Amino acid sequence: MNAQIISNAPVGTKFGYMELKCPEIASEKNAGRFFMVSVRSDEKSIDPILKRPFAICDIKSPDTFSFLYMIVGRGTSLLAKCRQGEYLGVTGPLGNYFKLEKNASVALAAGGIGIAPMIMTAKKLRGQGCRVTLFYGGRSASDIIMRDTLENICDELVPVTEDGSLGIKGLVTAPIKERISEFRKVYACGPNRMLMAVNDICSEAGTDIEVSLDEHMACGVGACLGCLVAVKEKTGTVMKRCCVEGPVFNGAKIDWPALCRG
Ligand SMILES: Cc1cc2nc3c(=O)[nH]c(=O)nc-3n(C[C@H](O)[C@H](O)[C@H](O)COP(=O)(O)OP(=O)(O)OC[C@H]3O[C@@H](n4cnc5c(N)ncnc54)[C@H](O)[C@@H]3O)c2cc1C
Ligand code: FES
Repeated sequence: MNAQIISNAPVGTKFGYMELKCPEIASEKNAGRFFMVSVRSDEKSIDPILKRPFAICDIKSPDTFSFLYMIVGRGTSLLAKCRQGEYLGVTGPLGNYFKLEKNASVALAAGGIGIAPMIMTAKKLRGQGCRVTLFYGGRSASDIIMRDTLENICDELVPVTEDGSLGIKGLVTAPIKERISEFRKVYACGPNRMLMAVNDICSEAGTDIEVSLDEHMACGVGACLGCLVAVKEKTGTVMKRCCVEGPVFNGAKIDWPALCRG
């Protein structure tokens, strides 16, 4: 289906924020799902051929949703050039979603662009009476984006930067480890190694954790088997498709060494 671009604005130098008119995706009620978008170098071209996956960041109205993108390569550079009023091909909503707690103190852990699904997640959790603490890590202050929005939608924002230019200096895992006993559940999205470290902290503390994985995806709908993740079940390790059975998984079940090697 086609979605019209309502707005597309840079966020700092490395990111963009786009609003798309698409009632089918904007009617999504669950947080953590994603969609695929087709970005084309020009109207007649089919290049790049593969759609790109992005988290649904926020629902702006009954027919408009937004997403946040980090400019890392060809597709995202083309996205940054798209103009208001143009149309993009989209598929979604796709994948599963976070199982949200009610009336609990919970932590969100985001690394880099892992912040994208956390905006809708924070809003939904607060709507269910949760106290939401967001731990948000990046290399430096310029990686910690949309701070005003985040401060409004969370009870507490804890920025963490590796160079100490904003918030706590170091890795996002340090304050999470220190405060883990405050939380009933952790929801995390970011680089796989960060997720593995947060999962270790939760496992030691006996705290539930759900992680959203950004695996490379080709089809996004379960057909190509290009996004398999090794998950430990009672019967042994099984391969699950990140695009259909994920992107959200119980952190305790992921085969982390296999994921981080891959
Ligand atoms: C379920 C899901 C949700 C996602 N949500 C977001 C989001 O909300 N915002 C966002 O900015 N990005 C998100 N991503 C990652 C995003 O899809 C990729 O960054 C994007 O497809 C890169 O496209 P490109 O053409 O610009 O880069 P390419 O030219 O294809 O690649 C450039 C670089 O990015 C790396 N890359 C490509 N795809 C991924 C990926 N899936 N994960 C990590 N690195 C990748 C490549 O290895 C390469 O180093 C998500 C991925 C998944 C699977
Ligand atoms: S991306 Fe094709 S099966 Fe998941």
